[in-house]
Amino acid sequence: MRKKLVAGNWKMHGSLAENAALLAALKPALAGIDAVVCVPFPYLAQAQAELAGSTIAWGAQNLSEQAKGAFTGEVSAAMLLDFGCTYVIVGHSERRSLYGESDALVASKYMAAQAAGLKPILCVGESLDERESGVTEAVVARQLDAVINAAGIASLMNAVLAYEPVWAIGTGKTASPEQAQAVHAFIRNKIAALDPAVADQLVIQYGGSVKAANASELMAKPDIDGGLIGGASLVAEEFVAICRAAAK
Ligand code: 13P
Repeated sequence: MRKKLVAGNWKMHGSLAENAALLAALKPALAGIDAVVCVPFPYLAQAQAELAGSTIAWGAQNLSEQAKGAFTGEVSAAMLLDFGCTYVIVGHSERRSLYGESDALVASKYMAAQAAGLKPILCVGESLDERESGVTEAVVARQLDAVINAAGIASLMNAVLAYEPVWAIGTGKTASPEQAQAVHAFIRNKIAALDPAVADQLVIQYGGSVKAANASELMAKPDIDGGLIGGASLVAEEFVAICRAAAK
């Protein structure tokens, strides 16, 4: 039985004061429940200081594909490890669409994360246009294949996947549990065709307008193993309720 895992993606939100209040509320409420918060780079030290010794892990939202060198403004996997990160989000749709990250670059970042011992949370998902033109599975397969071809199928033993339909992110439009389950099952079957053991243990999170009110019905689906939560991860009661729904 796969254990469900919920991760918060704070995106570019927060301040020292706001984070302190949020983490102080999350810590006791999530005692004994595995969860993750992916915070902006400057707040990794704060997350480490506040969360060390708890069951809440922390991570970043991006990393460089390079190990070190003259790459102004970039942050390496080793730097994230220095701050105790366990996870790093790779290939979020906002990185792909707003910052031009290609499938190949995403694969390089995924490998850089794993080479350093971080667990990538690899995001895949189609746009509204792609869904409406019936190419959802082709897009998700292309995004996955870029990573599998570069890093190998066994690499997914040390990764988490997140299916995030772009049209559901920050829009208030959640994929229905059936729509999400259909893509999750497609992903798991595709991976099972290559390696059933990898597919069986792989955590596939759903992301896109998850909130306390819709978490339970999403988490009840057999191939939805948790969530990647944006807006609702900034509200302690919402995030706690989602994590509890997943842990049930
Ligand atoms: P929302 O939960 O705000 O829709 O964001 C989802 C997301 O992009 C998480 O990575």
